[in-house]
Amino acid sequence: MSIDYNETIPNNVNLADDRRLLRALERWQPAYLKWWDDMGPVESGDLSVYLRTAISVDKNGWANYGHVHMPEYRWGIFLSPPEDDRKINFGIHKGEPAWQSVPGEYRSELRRLIVTQGDTEPASVEQQRQLGKTCPSLYDLRNLFQVNVEEGRHLWAMVYLLQAYFGRDGREEADMMLERHAGDADKPRILQAFNERTDDWLSFFMFTYFQDRDGKYQLASLAESGFDPLSRSCRFMLTEEAHHMFVGETGIARVVQRTCETMREHDSDDVRQYGVIDLPTVQKWMNFHYSICLDLFGQERSTNAANYFSMGLKGRFQETKIDDDHQLDGAVYNVPAFEDGKVVSLEVPAITASNERLRADYTKDSQRGVNRFNKIIKEHGVDFELTLPNEAFNRGIGAFSGVHATPEGEVIDDAEWEMRRVDWLPTEADRAFVQTLMAPVTEPGRMAGWLAAPRRGIHGQPIDYEYVKFH
Ligand SMILES: [Fe+2]
Ligand SMILES: [Fe+2]
Repeated sequence: MSIDYNETIPNNVNLADDRRLLRALERWQPAYLKWWDDMGPVESGDLSVYLRTAISVDKNGWANYGHVHMPEYRWGIFLSPPEDDRKINFGIHKGEPAWQSVPGEYRSELRRLIVTQGDTEPASVEQQRQLGKTCPSLYDLRNLFQVNVEEGRHLWAMVYLLQAYFGRDGREEADMMLERHAGDADKPRILQAFNERTDDWLSFFMFTYFQDRDGKYQLASLAESGFDPLSRSCRFMLTEEAHHMFVGETGIARVVQRTCETMREHDSDDVRQYGVIDLPTVQKWMNFHYSICLDLFGQERSTNAANYFSMGLKGRFQETKIDDDHQLDGAVYNVPAFEDGKVVSLEVPAITASNERLRADYTKDSQRGVNRFNKIIKEHGVDFELTLPNEAFNRGIGAFSGVHATPEGEVIDDAEWEMRRVDWLPTEADRAFVQTLMAPVTEPGRMAGWLAAPRRGIHGQPIDYEYVKFH
């Protein structure tokens, strides 16, 4: 059977004319579909979902909406349009023309960056696969699936780069993307945050708020890459990432709103009995997701990060908008460190601190939404403030991995940590409580009792539109 790849795989990379790449994708696509079937959203094969499908990179092309059976979703390969005479904008090759093929001397570093990014994409689909069974509304179910198919497309984007530019080892890496699985004891995903559980919808909203925002910062720094195909792939992926973060931010906001309404209605902080998620529980979920996401940025001081920067492979956030030499000659940057039982700030060569700098940009961006949540709380006259925990809290990587600290950043000993962590991180009892609220709501327009309705529907449709059809 011959397949028309321009039809089944929408693309702007001339797939039809590239025999070698076509053969590689022909081999990979069935394995991908099998993975989607085995590891993607459970019991979703028969559903018809109102999805956006990108069929080209121009404005009209990437906003195609319609009901789709997800296994028939057209996972496409899109790169943002090329920039004329694009240059490498930082590092030792600054000013040279951007690479259109893989620079031989940096092949393994580049492959590692692409594999690490690519591995997170199917991981998140795996982590979220059970959520469809407990959707709080059809609107939310549709958003979950939209995020899932786009993470699938992001995997396609990275697999395209591996198969088109890295020969046989690229094809092997592409196969391995479907063999590692989130939380698998033998073959886990590469980064720990992508092995964690996401088995309730509060976790899903936190995931799309925090993990997908990490995605935004990683993609943005890869979008600066001197390797042009990677840069262009990431630029297009970023347009989709924005929607994922929207799902997270509005999701948390709707939870907070419903909780505050209930607190007002009953004039009580003790609102679990009314079937909503109390604010201290929201805070625990936030503590957990934010702290594991900080680990995704890696060591505060990193030779790898310095190499990626000087090689021109991975830049800083909005590299070209930064007003400096883009080579960091003699520049310094302050990073946190833990010395003699105390948290201190160390001045180090800036080129070694690009992970920390990206993390700081991420924190600033994360805080913006938290401020908006606090505004909702305040508007309801409730005396509570959600906060991002200190960077020393609950860390597995970097300067703070060896210490325990409170969410305020005060260093504490093991015994105190063991005693007090139940106040700061989700306990099994908290998770069990949240699970009691996870019952599916599938009547168009109806919402579960623990979250407010969204302000508006998708793409101009009403909130009670049948976003997912079950027959
Ligand atoms: Fe993604
Ligand atoms: Fe995402």
